[in-house]
Parts: sequence; structure tokens; C-alpha cells
Amino acid sequence: MDVPALTLNDDHTIPQLGFGVFQVPPEETAGVVRQALEVGYRHIDTAQMYGNEEGVGQALRESGLERSEIFLTSKLNNSNHLPDDAHRSMAETLEKLGTDHVDLFLIHWPLPTRYDGDFVSTWQALVEMREQGLARSVGVSNFEPEHLERLGRESDLVPAVNQVEVHPFFGNSPVRQATAAAGALLEAWSPIAKGQVAEDPTIGDIAQRLGRTPAQVTLRWHLQLGHVVFPKSTHVERMRENAQVFDFTLTDRDMERISELDRGAGGRLGPDPATFDRV
Ligand SMILES: NC(=O)c1ccc[n+]([C@@H]2O[C@H](COP(=O)([O-])OP(=O)(O)OC[C@H]3O[C@@H](n4cnc5c(N)ncnc54)[C@H](OP(=O)(O)O)[C@@H]3O)[C@@H](O)[C@H]2O)c1
Repeated sequence: MDVPALTLNDDHTIPQLGFGVFQVPPEETAGVVRQALEVGYRHIDTAQMYGNEEGVGQALRESGLERSEIFLTSKLNNSNHLPDDAHRSMAETLEKLGTDHVDLFLIHWPLPTRYDGDFVSTWQALVEMREQGLARSVGVSNFEPEHLERLGRESDLVPAVNQVEVHPFFGNSPVRQATAAAGALLEAWSPIAKGQVAEDPTIGDIAQRLGRTPAQVTLRWHLQLGHVVFPKSTHVERMRENAQVFDFTLTDRDMERISELDRGAGGRLGPDPATFDRV
């Protein structure tokens, strides 16, 4: 699998296509990730919240691949925002993953209504993890423009990425623009709208013309927009399908037609980061 690498603002690189493991049951994770690695994925996106970091670590060990061949992301759980908890939980993450560093570590949610609205001291803890070499790069997830702007004012380090919900039905343009303006790379979660793109007639029409599937066309749309993506599947044939996206191109008109499917806030599938407060 020949996946382009994008350069982050700290000069590290990230494979533009990876594999996500949200909602992969912990007991199935080692097997699923092993299959994904066999298919050729070399970038895995997990989180403390997913409860499956151990399975990811097991798959990496069993794969026989060198640690340096894999780009590994995890994310800080919402219950761990206090700096001491963040540092302690990072040690647990590394132990579960069986590694001495992750390639990317993110604040999973900004939680503006918790911790007195202070995600800046949490960010400072991640900056320290980077300085200690525990995370090669650090970034954020689900940060809205005002959260990025505050980090810009109160911290010297720009997040390497902002991982947010983006798919054809939820373009999330203000957040994409603010992420680019901050100098961070955009990672799109739920890139194929949790499989719902398969039912869309416009995407289906483009897919039929190109002899591709709706998921492939949608992932290609992301790649051409410069997003990093990590679709999740527990089915090996879909893992292969989702990776075969580097041998065709969408026209400008195809790109526009897909972008026009944006339903604004009505297209959101996940929680709104401005109000999400589950710890
Ligand atoms: N930072 C955050 O807050 C956040 C939130 C959500 C997700 N994420 C990350 O983003 C990753 C991807 O997002 P996601 O898992 O929510 O959604 P997704 O990747 O857009 O969609 C996954 C769903 O689509 C199905 N699917 C996969 N390939 C398909 C194909 N080719 N055709 C039709 N259906 C297909 C999967 O089913 P099967 O498994 O049955 O194949 C699964 O139900 C996550 O795994 C996680 O790493 C991050």
C-alpha cells in the first residue's frame, strides 16, 4: 500500500490514510488490527476512551513490524484533563500499547463546560509529554475555532492536528478554516459518515461513473481536500476497499457536487464539542 505522507507543523510526517478503531470491541481489537496491518495500514488511531489500546499493542507485537514502521495515535480521556492525571494516564497508555512513545497524542474533547473551562493547562501537559519524548507530536480533537484561538493566545505551541467530524453531510467549514489558519493539519473523523455515504444518490452516481464504491469516492474527496482519514471497518474486504483510493482522481465538478451535500449542523452525527461534557 503506497500512502502519501503529509508533513506536520513540527516537521514530523503522518500517513494520510490510517485505520480507526473506535467501537471495535476490546476483545476483537488485536485480531482486527492484525488484519488491517496485513492489508497494509501503517497508521492506527485509538484513544484511551475506546478501551482497546491493549489490543492495538498486542497486534503491533504480533505483526512482527518494527515500531518505526507504524504511526500510532492515542487521545487523552475526558476524565484525565488535570495535568497530573494526564501524565499518569499517558504512562498507562504507553504500557497498554507496549511502546515507549506514541507518534501523536491528542486532547480528545475540549470540555469547555468542565474543569473551569481550562483546557490550556491540559494542553501544557501534552507539550511536556512532547518535550519528554513520550509523544512525537501533540494535537487536539474536536476543538472549535474559539478553542483554537485561545490556545493561540495562551500557548507557544500550535497543535499539530485538529481531529474533527467531517464528511460530505457535515462539511464543518468554520472549523476546517480555523484549523488551517492556526497552521494545524485537519484529521476527519467519521470520514464516510459511519457508512451512510453508501446510500447517497449523488455519491452513488459518481461512484458508478468511475467504477468505484461510494466509500472510495468519499475517501478520495477527503484526500483531495488534504485531510488525514482513518476509516474503521471490522471486515477485511472493506479494509481493502477503503485503502484502494490512490489510483483515481475526482474532477473539480465531482468535488463540488460532494461538497454541496453539506447539511450544516443538521448533518452532524456526533456530539457538539461546544456542549459535550461526558467524562
Ligand atoms: N476524535 C473523535 O472524537 C472521534 C470520533 C469518532 C471517530 N473517531 C475516529 O475516526 C475513526 C473513523 O470514524 P468512525 O468509525 O466513527 O466512522 P467511519 O469510519 O466513517 O465509518 C465506520 C462505519 O462504516 C462502516 N464501513 C466501513 N467501511 C465501509 C465501506 N467501504 N462501505 C460501507 N460501510 C463501511 C463500518 O462498518 P463495519 O465495521 O461493519 O465494516 C462502520 O460501521 C474512528 O474509528 C476513530 O478512530 C474519532
